[in-house]
Amino acid sequence: MAGVSVYHRVVDFMEQNTPVSGGAKPRGDSGTNTPESGINSSGAAPAPDRNATLIRYWFLAGAVMVFLILIVGGITRLTQSGLSIVDWKPISGVIPPLNETQWEAEFDRYRAFPEYQQRNKGMSMSEFKFIFFWEYLHRMLARAIGFVFLIPFIWFASQRMFTRRQFKQAMLLFFLGFAQGFMGWYMVQSGLVDNPYVSPFRLAAHLSLAFAIFGACIWFAMETWPRFTRVVKASVHHGTGSWYRSALWMVVILFVVQVVWGALVAGHKAGYFFNTFPTMEGYWLPPQLWTSTPAWVNFFDNIVTVQWTHRLIGTLLLLATGGLVWLSRRADSLLKTTALSLGAGMAVQYLLGVFTLLLHVPISLGVIHQATAMVLFGILLAVIFRHRRITRAAAVLRQSA
Ligand code: HEM
Repeated sequence: MAGVSVYHRVVDFMEQNTPVSGGAKPRGDSGTNTPESGINSSGAAPAPDRNATLIRYWFLAGAVMVFLILIVGGITRLTQSGLSIVDWKPISGVIPPLNETQWEAEFDRYRAFPEYQQRNKGMSMSEFKFIFFWEYLHRMLARAIGFVFLIPFIWFASQRMFTRRQFKQAMLLFFLGFAQGFMGWYMVQSGLVDNPYVSPFRLAAHLSLAFAIFGACIWFAMETWPRFTRVVKASVHHGTGSWYRSALWMVVILFVVQVVWGALVAGHKAGYFFNTFPTMEGYWLPPQLWTSTPAWVNFFDNIVTVQWTHRLIGTLLLLATGGLVWLSRRADSLLKTTALSLGAGMAVQYLLGVFTLLLHVPISLGVIHQATAMVLFGILLAVIFRHRRITRAAAVLRQSA
């Protein structure tokens, strides 16, 4: 509530282009890490402090590293390298085989598992080294992310640079990071069995957690970013209506569903079938859509239905995003720019999806399609964040009127 009284003092002095929220007050979001973080009594925007800036870079570094590991993870999956390291050794696994004897031992362990026996019989040592490389890189990057997070964390904490809220955010990220490590292990286990294919559902969970960690890093960074937190009085009246809120919710729900079904398409290798567009081998509704019973099961385990759903949701998502862009035309410039970028990016993503399918999932396009989804998620969060700031500022102004 202290924040609202600060606003009241400030709103009296406001000109059309002075900040309504200079940073942080509602629910502890902060453009600075100082106690009054936000607005001084003259209504001027506060200078972002050094702690908040450093912590923002730290969160952003986390997001960049998650993005990199997503790309390497995509290559690992598409080169079918994910089951090449059959042990789980968080510490000693850092050292790869260093001589021919160690390589032979590693290859022998791989040869004992069904993936080699059923799918890769006769694989040469150089082919094994290739798939080993991608899985090894993926695991090393995961460890590196842990260090990039831990070392600055210890320093920030020892210097008492965190606000209470940022400390909790860091804890949440550590928790999600550990959960992701576990999920990666659990996913690999599903492929080291008689049927040597990774479970599409565990893959979807692994990908969704990667999006969650990336999204949390971006969101927490925006909370310390005056560019996103500051709202000027002139801009609060557009982009805050119920139509806008509904359109935004629609985009968010469709986006989340689309990412999960994208992972199911990838996990089921459904992109290698029905490589035509806009119809599926001449059908809008292929006859194989409802072969499993009960009918809802098809959405999860029938590759035809999984691909069909991804096409359908993708199309709805593109339309809903178009609507959001249209509604943003009079919003404040940052909201308008982020919404426009989302719309343009979504159109590109749609085309990338279509070409990934038409060209039978080349590794490059598969990876770019996946990476673009993560970029779009970051932009979508920026739209949500900015919209919330404007809505809150509008409420404050209404209260003080
Ligand atoms: C417009 C919004 C779209 C979004 C946000 C989106 C997102 C995704 C995501 C996150 C994946 C999972 C990638 C992975 O785990 O490697 C995926 C996979 C895939 N998507 Fe989309 N997609 C969209 C549209 C489309 C469209 C319109 C098509 C085709 C008509 C399409 C075709 C595919 C295919 C074939 C895959 C599997 C690629 C693979 O096996 O690696 N996507 N999509």
